[in-house]
Amino acid sequence: MQSEPDGPIPLCAAEITDEDREAVTATLATGWVSTAGPAVARFEKQLAGYVGTGHAVATNSGTAALHVSLLVAGVEPEDEVLVSDMTFIAPVNTIRYVGAWPVLVDAEPDYWQMDVDKMKKFLERDCAPRNGHLENRKSGRRVRAILPVHLLGHPCDLDALHEVSGRYGLKLIEDSTESLGALYKARKVGSGGLSSLSFNGNKLITTGAGGAIVTDDAAMAERAMYLVTQAKDDPLEYVHHSIGFNYRMPSISAALGSAQLAKIDHHLEKKRRIAKRYAEALGNVPGLSPMPSAEWAEPAWWLYTIRIDPARFGRSSRELMRLLAKEGISTRPIFQPMHESQAHAGAQAIGGEVSSRIVAEALSLPSSVGLSDEDQDRVIATIREFGP
Ligand SMILES: Cc1ncc(COP(=O)(O)O)c(C=O)c1O
Repeated sequence: MQSEPDGPIPLCAAEITDEDREAVTATLATGWVSTAGPAVARFEKQLAGYVGTGHAVATNSGTAALHVSLLVAGVEPEDEVLVSDMTFIAPVNTIRYVGAWPVLVDAEPDYWQMDVDKMKKFLERDCAPRNGHLENRKSGRRVRAILPVHLLGHPCDLDALHEVSGRYGLKLIEDSTESLGALYKARKVGSGGLSSLSFNGNKLITTGAGGAIVTDDAAMAERAMYLVTQAKDDPLEYVHHSIGFNYRMPSISAALGSAQLAKIDHHLEKKRRIAKRYAEALGNVPGLSPMPSAEWAEPAWWLYTIRIDPARFGRSSRELMRLLAKEGISTRPIFQPMHESQAHAGAQAIGGEVSSRIVAEALSLPSSVGLSDEDQDRVIATIREFGP
């Protein structure tokens, strides 16, 4: 994903300030530049405190956090994991990393998140209990977990997901990489059990590249820490009882993360303001629909995304994207739905037509924390000019 400033008005660039630079320089001066040292543990403590979980394990990417989350949740080769169809590909790839198989769940049309009702129907009609687990009748495989993606800064319906996962004995592994800071019924996204975060350059806060697993489960956190640090059973003699990974976050990144986390409320405030200004200015343009938000949600508004009805607006989302690019304004479609991806060809899909329709019509607008009112006004005016 694009994470660097990508033009005069970038899509979603990081805001790096003097405090960030000073924090990194101070850590460099300590000599702790790699994954050992106090900066990583400090960032983990601050992060767990912010999200409201007992533990955080910092990793060198959100993808690594998801991979290890699946392992500590007990997902095994040939298991199936129900995952959002409309998502960046990383969570679906990590299901394959552990040898399991994705079952792609369509988005619901109201808030564009995983459609829990469609998933329930699949579990009721197309799965059956067998030898103490739930079996997908079509594939004959064990359905083991649900991996919902809180997309674009908006939470999924977590109560409904907890209810379904509890009823069917499925693990719930949340992908909160795009939604740090969002609230679901006043609860922080990420605080619900086992969740992954990303601090890539385009996310709400950044560590350059980086991620974290957040959980209340001490045993899972301990296992995750062991796996991300090469699974050392004796760190002196280098004795290993398992296959681990070099997934730990380095100190330089963690130092940047702590400085960024200290400003997260300011970042959220800026995102809310950007969203409000887009909604007010574009909400009445024929053919444009503002980004939806459920009454039970307080989104983080990571990437403000509109829907464009070409029949009423006069142009498709992709046409508008190309015209805006010529004006130096970076916009982007949502990710290709996974049921259309060659990388996961053959994956079973529960629906998919809603994802396809939303993706065809959606366009994410410049949403950087550092976006000035003047630049946002230019984006708005240019979109209006190209409209009906
Ligand atoms: C939904 C989703 N999951 C996972 C990731 C992977 O995170 P990272 O880029 O930190 O590996 C991203 C984005 O980057 C994402 O958007």
